[in-house]
Amino acid sequence: MRALIVLLVCTELLSSALSSADDAYPTGYGDEPGACLKNIGNLRPERREVYEGGEIIDITHPFTPETPVGTPDGIGEYLTLLLSMKNGSDYNFSELKIPVHAGTHVDAPGHMYDHYYDAGFDIDSLDLRVLNGPALLVDVPRDKNLTAEVMKSLNIPRGVKRVLFRTLNTDRHLMLKKEFDTSYVGFMKDGAQWLVDNTDIKLVGIDYLSVAAFVDLIPSHLVFLESREIILVEGLKLDGVQPGIYTLHCLPLRLLGAEGSPIRCILIK
Ligand SMILES: *[C@@H]1O[C@H](CO)[C@@H](O)[C@H](O)[C@H]1NC(C)=O
Ligand SMILES: *[C@@H]1O[C@H](CO)[C@@H](O)[C@H](O)[C@H]1NC(C)=O
Ligand SMILES: *[C@@H]1O[C@H](CO)[C@@H](O)[C@H](O)[C@H]1NC(C)=O
Repeated sequence: MRALIVLLVCTELLSSALSSADDAYPTGYGDEPGACLKNIGNLRPERREVYEGGEIIDITHPFTPETPVGTPDGIGEYLTLLLSMKNGSDYNFSELKIPVHAGTHVDAPGHMYDHYYDAGFDIDSLDLRVLNGPALLVDVPRDKNLTAEVMKSLNIPRGVKRVLFRTLNTDRHLMLKKEFDTSYVGFMKDGAQWLVDNTDIKLVGIDYLSVAAFVDLIPSHLVFLESREIILVEGLKLDGVQPGIYTLHCLPLRLLGAEGSPIRCILIK
């Protein structure tokens, strides 16, 4: 049955191609016997981490039921088909249910300050000029959390506004494990304070679910979010990317009232 449908579609394509003497069809279209059948039968979307020539690098983790969120189980089934072609509907139509701090995501000031939340400092209030622009990707020492001493040792120049910190979390592939792992590397309070006091950084990116080390979860977030000028992008996919300067583009969903959102981030060389 399925083969028949494929064949029908294929014949239709082929005959329309052949019957057209139009320049709109490239020459040779449908020339190869069986090419059409083969292509349709194997129809698969291409999934890329790096685009042609490497000039676009996707640093977003794909969502799956195993995407970590801070529980033992990951986010679970996050897509539900409300209408399904398999069940006779004219189209597939799914509903999405994702915790806003799961996978690659961004925090708004309202995440850790209740009065900011009440005042409306939500995802829609984040500055797109901060989320887009030149960014530095740096490797940090693998044997420490992100303390003031570590931050100082990185010698991040004044004027740098966006930094993505690659840590032991990437080497340990923590984002690929559904169980939340509290031993991840993140900012200690003094490391966060050092950045705020001594650099011009307005966007902090990190390779696990939280910029703050688990033992300093609240204090480090509070230091970063207090001014409402620093944006925290968490759960980035930074493996295999050369350290250096890129153009970063990050776009969250426009979720009014939300203190977090999934975010799509890419680097351009
Ligand atoms: C979704 O749509 C495709 C056709 O585009 C159909 O083949 C498939 O069975 C549908 N999936 C489900 C789960 O209904
Ligand atoms: C299709 O309908 C059957 C029977 O009602 C149901 O068990 C199944 O979950 C439905 N599948 C989808 C993809 O909606
Ligand atoms: C970082 O801190 C966590 C606790 O938040 C700890 O479990 C982990 O071992 C520390 N990592 C390193 C590399 O020191």
